[in-house]
Amino acid sequence: MPETLTITDNRTGKTYEVSIENETIRAIDLRKIKVNESDFGMMTYDPGYSNTASCKSQVTYIDGEKGILEYRGYPIEQLAEKSSFTEVVYLLLNGELPDADQLSNWQESINHHTVIHENIKRQMESFRYDAHPMGMMISTVAALSTFYPEAKKVRCAENRKLQIERLIAKVPTIAAFTFRHSQGHPYVFPNNKLSYTENFLSMMFGMVGNDYHADPAIVKALDVLFTLHADHEQNCSASVMRAIGSSEADPYSAWAGAAAALYGPLHGGANEAVLKMLAEIGDVSNVASYVEKCKNGEQRLMGFGHRVYKNYDPRARIIKKCADEVFEVTGRNPLLDVALELEKIALEDEYFVKRKLYPNVDFYSGLIYQAIGLPVAMFPVMFAIPRTVGWLAQWAESLEDKDQRIQRPRQVFLGEREREYKAQSER
Ligand code: SDX
Repeated sequence: MPETLTITDNRTGKTYEVSIENETIRAIDLRKIKVNESDFGMMTYDPGYSNTASCKSQVTYIDGEKGILEYRGYPIEQLAEKSSFTEVVYLLLNGELPDADQLSNWQESINHHTVIHENIKRQMESFRYDAHPMGMMISTVAALSTFYPEAKKVRCAENRKLQIERLIAKVPTIAAFTFRHSQGHPYVFPNNKLSYTENFLSMMFGMVGNDYHADPAIVKALDVLFTLHADHEQNCSASVMRAIGSSEADPYSAWAGAAAALYGPLHGGANEAVLKMLAEIGDVSNVASYVEKCKNGEQRLMGFGHRVYKNYDPRARIIKKCADEVFEVTGRNPLLDVALELEKIALEDEYFVKRKLYPNVDFYSGLIYQAIGLPVAMFPVMFAIPRTVGWLAQWAESLEDKDQRIQRPRQVFLGEREREYKAQSER
């Protein structure tokens, strides 16, 4: 059976053969469909790219209908239960789980880069006390590009590897420093004797002068949360990382662009928006009226819905389990009852069922962050830390992909044409 599509243009009666590869057709093949020879030719129009594959990838697989998520072929449920975030970072970047030597060498290379330049610390001190930590993160990581000018050599694999290690290692340090800045507390420096996640918690909550020991249940829960947030194929921020990377900009500048996309409330900023929504609802008795307002289109149910998942987001299911384990230690977050009631009502309501709107990764994560003592403004930062590896895995893959070139979409132009200039007196 030929892997082709036969297209008949009813305007001309002409037919065209277009080859099919991986269940897709190359959009550029449509340009031969014309009415007149001088025409530009046919394009596709796909706002939000809801049905456009921008790349080929081997990093992350999602089946939205079945609620399946796999990193390099490994189901997220198995990685969350059996792996560690440091291992998952290695897997996403290298395609295979590390053996014992590879893991310890990997941990060693990350530890080598956790400290940041003193000038970067001073730059962070220039922010207002109430600066949003995502604004601080985006500008501070972008500034790293001025300390590592060699990062512009994006076509050199060795150089990419070094910059990737620096970003994986320094993002948690900068993230913790944004939190300490907002608290007016001195910075706690990285302690390389600790695991990646424990070290982050130590920089966040440790106090100068005494050893900080995070509760193992909280370390484990946060490690799982980092694993769940590590990558998610061509989401908004990953596609921005690829777009900026396609112009051969350095990875620090690309990271800043991707983090800016993540910051939006429709994307990674949703976890912050969810907690604000739960706090606004305040009590289980207010849930039904709040849901009605969502159904009238007055507002969105934050933490619900997904462009790809038309089933329960597998990450939300695991996070809900993590929440119970954290609350064992921290005490139950009263807003959990509001969240559970919201979920119950929404999953039974025709409006949400018809639109296949389920809780996504952001619906429960904020409850955990709040329970371990994070302010709401830190929630998107908690998304950006683990997603750094996803962005970098996608970025590196795009630079190795011979199909890829600078991204420059087309448009459907519906504006005015060839207008004569008018003197001001005639306007
Ligand atoms: C993330 O892409 C990824 O993989 C992202 C992510 C990742 O790991 O990188 O998974 C992380 O960003 C998760 C999503 C976090 N965002 C939110 O929780 C914000 C609330 N959700 C939405 O705004 C929305 O669901 C999106 C942005 C997530 C998806 O938007 P789509 O696919 O463009 O869907 P849509 O806006 O076209 O909505 C389809 C319909 C509309 O109704 P109708 O016009 O058909 O009547 O569903 C409605 C929407 O109004 N709808 C919602 C809703 N989400 C969609 N109605 C109420 N509440 C919602 N949350």
